[in-house]
Amino acid sequence: MSETTASETNSSENVKESSYVTDELIASDIDAYLVQHQHKSLLRFITCGSVDDGKSTLIGRLLYDSKMIFEDQLAAVEADSKKFGTQGQNIDFALLVDGLAAEREQGITIDVAYRFFATEKRKFIVADTPGHEQYTRNMVTGASTADLAIILIDARKGVLTQTRRHSYLAHLIGIRSLVVAVNKMDLIGYDHDKYDAIVAEYRQFATSIGIKNFTPMPISGFMGDNITSKSENTPWYTGPSLMQHLETVELDVTADQAKKFRLPVQWVNRPNLDFRGFSGLISSGVVKPGDAVRVLPSGKTSTVSRIVTFDGDLPEAVAGQSVTLCFADEIDCSRGDVITLSDEPVQVADQFEVNLVWMADEALTPGRSYWLKIGTQLVSASIHAPKYLVNVNTLEHTAAKTLELNSIGVTNIVTDKPIPFEAYSENRSLGGFIVIDKMTNATVGAGMINFSLRRSQNVHWQVLDVSRGAHAKLKNQQAGVLWFTGLSGAGKSTIANLVEKKLVRMNRHTFLLDGDNVRHGLNKDLGFTDADRIENIRRVGEVAKLMTDAGLIVVTAFISPFRSEREMVRNMMAPGEFIEIFIDTKLEDAEKRDVKGLYKKARAGELKNFTGIDSPYEAPEQPEIHIDTSKLTAEESADLIISKLIP
Ligand code: ADX
Repeated sequence: MSETTASETNSSENVKESSYVTDELIASDIDAYLVQHQHKSLLRFITCGSVDDGKSTLIGRLLYDSKMIFEDQLAAVEADSKKFGTQGQNIDFALLVDGLAAEREQGITIDVAYRFFATEKRKFIVADTPGHEQYTRNMVTGASTADLAIILIDARKGVLTQTRRHSYLAHLIGIRSLVVAVNKMDLIGYDHDKYDAIVAEYRQFATSIGIKNFTPMPISGFMGDNITSKSENTPWYTGPSLMQHLETVELDVTADQAKKFRLPVQWVNRPNLDFRGFSGLISSGVVKPGDAVRVLPSGKTSTVSRIVTFDGDLPEAVAGQSVTLCFADEIDCSRGDVITLSDEPVQVADQFEVNLVWMADEALTPGRSYWLKIGTQLVSASIHAPKYLVNVNTLEHTAAKTLELNSIGVTNIVTDKPIPFEAYSENRSLGGFIVIDKMTNATVGAGMINFSLRRSQNVHWQVLDVSRGAHAKLKNQQAGVLWFTGLSGAGKSTIANLVEKKLVRMNRHTFLLDGDNVRHGLNKDLGFTDADRIENIRRVGEVAKLMTDAGLIVVTAFISPFRSEREMVRNMMAPGEFIEIFIDTKLEDAEKRDVKGLYKKARAGELKNFTGIDSPYEAPEQPEIHIDTSKLTAEESADLIISKLIP
């Protein structure tokens, strides 16, 4: 960047002055500097645009003109500040570094560069994300914690496809403050009419996607116009300079304080029998001792007796503060619960319509169950096929069977238990979630709850008087599921059939669910695509669960080729009730036998998606019982299984 641009003479003396003092302070007394810094508010923002729009120049200009901490200084400050760590001072550096570490842990490379700088009035973290469509996931990551987004428009080009894409994403991700920076004004001769025309065009588009407010400003990142001070080149512009705006715009945390009180519980603090507190970061609102509170999803109520922090008890705590609440009564409350005021509870539901951004190379598998991390809860949820995708360039809705990398869709999800939540537009931390693959533990998506589906609110669990225990006791047995898995033709049905006969001879009450049979009735609408197999196993799992509730020993014989779904069924059952039995036959052997002639058809290309041929089989890693059919006959296999079950 040129050292002698117009802006330098324009830029505020104050800022330069103070930055000099700041630099001195960093050099001479880092502790004093950090203490001084600690009391400034922190604005997180992102810049959207491509290199052509002058994004790097603008960021460079902000860093340069505000004169703050450059990144090389950051490393030194960070090292020195370690001693502050345990006291929770220096929180901003910790946040910055944590953010980067978190990404690394997620196991996906996200290209978001965070920069830190500060002025007299505020501290800033700017996330610089690449603007192309293939970087949608990066932008979503950078934007998810931002208070503000700067949408850069090249004054010579006006509103472009990418302007729309960035605005849509910023709005989707819930950024409340948008700055529309019409950049390179110097290159259009600071033309007021052209600027007005661009802003008018942007306004029309913004309204169409539901953006109510934005702050337009004419700037030149290169020349420094309206960056740190008002430019003489745009006398017709009456708004603030970019830096003034960044220093004064309302922070999310301030806005959140005016909302209803919500505390997602991070952990239960019980150092001894006399103390029990519920800790977490207040996501919105205000709480005081004496407030009547409610814990969701249980709905139990109590009164706040104390608000405890490291620095002593507080008379009041607000959004953005981490606190420990103590209650007047001993009520159940655990990690993932949400504490609210008793007359302003959050909703509780288990089915939702959501916006979902897919971030993994491997596409979404509709119907599969994934982990959702929402607020402080981790729940299992199955994700339906998308209702539609949103084309991020045209904003058109298109039909699709799944979500690919960087695509955005609207879909329904079903969690395995009711969870307290708020719509994302109300509360980012209680309505936003990440999706985690259960097998790889990688973050594969990010989502936002639009609303809960009414059917989940209107269907209640009916408490029944005859318990599952009573059913099993009457039959004089323990209920359970013997889950056979293996290739087609491995011998699952034959061995399962023998096992059932032996159990019945021992007076056990059983029921055998066999793939070929269930597919003639309950599941006759399903084929052999991945999605259909997942649904097949989900239904069989639900039926098997009902049968164990009835006290039966359920024997199932399905290929059940995916680990994920076998795991899902295992998790549906009570601990110890799911016994996975792997009927291990080599593909060659199953194919040689080919009792039903299906392998032959599959090899001839007459049968698509055949397991082992053109559809995968994921062998169990730790089955409870492993049967090697090359060593045992069906009869011997059945005896071995019985001996393991009933020693
Ligand atoms: S699963 O994969 O969804 O668990 P399931 O056990 O219900 O499969 O059904 C498998 C049976 O369907 C096989 O034993 C075979 O008789 C028959 N079948 C028909 N088409 C296929 C196919 N493409 N892949 C596997 N099995 C098939």
